[in-house]
Amino acid sequence: MISFENVSVVYEEDIFALKNINCHVNNGDFLFVLGPSGAGKTTFLRLIYKEILPTAGKVIINKHDLLKLPKGRLPYFRRKLGIVFQDFKLLYDRTVNENIEFAMISVDQKISRIPKRRSEVLRLLKLNGKGHLYPHHLSGGEQQRVAIARAIANSPLILIADEPTGNLDDEISVDIINEFKQLNMIGMTVIIATHDDRLTNLVSNHHRLFLKDGELINAT
Ligand SMILES: Nc1ncnc2c1ncn2[C@@H]1O[C@H](COP(=O)(O)OP(=O)(O)O)[C@@H](O)[C@H]1O
Ligand SMILES: [Mg+2]
Repeated sequence: MISFENVSVVYEEDIFALKNINCHVNNGDFLFVLGPSGAGKTTFLRLIYKEILPTAGKVIINKHDLLKLPKGRLPYFRRKLGIVFQDFKLLYDRTVNENIEFAMISVDQKISRIPKRRSEVLRLLKLNGKGHLYPHHLSGGEQQRVAIARAIANSPLILIADEPTGNLDDEISVDIINEFKQLNMIGMTVIIATHDDRLTNLVSNHHRLFLKDGELINAT
């Protein structure tokens, strides 16, 4: 479970990216973090993977207060998370296969296990036959799917995606949300930040947090 207790983030003096946020996300939830650009959605996600710390308040994940998490534990903690960045952050000088391998090796997966799992995630994201290609030979939608394949390769407990449909046409957005739904059905907590609240229509059982100017306006 993820809990935010009176969390505020101030990047620069007097500018609150998040103001006194209180919320809970249960294991297995499908959560949309909604709100217009500048509302604080990305800041909310960055707190969860401890890229930033709250200026005030606490972020607690599965009983661990992230403020108190020793630095040495951070890599172990991050292994439980899969993150799909808004700009993908793929390694452009490596093939699709190598991108996925790299993510798996960096969390000490047994080398012998990699090919099987790699094929699984490529199949799941409909990237069969694309493994030997470099990202710049793929369409935007395919690169997006590589980013997702890489994020789930280590079977994370929590999948975090920042505007995963941000620059894709509608048909691909539907496919991607459907993939997230399948992962959620097998137990993964899914957290999606998006400015596009139409996406919520694609998921029948979901929760939502609506942010505006750093404030939590509505939670369902
Ligand atoms: N690194 C940063 N330094 C200063 N201000 C930032 C930084 N990141 C975000 N902000 C500001 O914090 C607010 C929330 O940003 P963000 O969390 O990126 O919102 P969203 O993802 O909803 O568009 C915005 O006003 C943004 O300009
Ligand atoms: Mg953002």
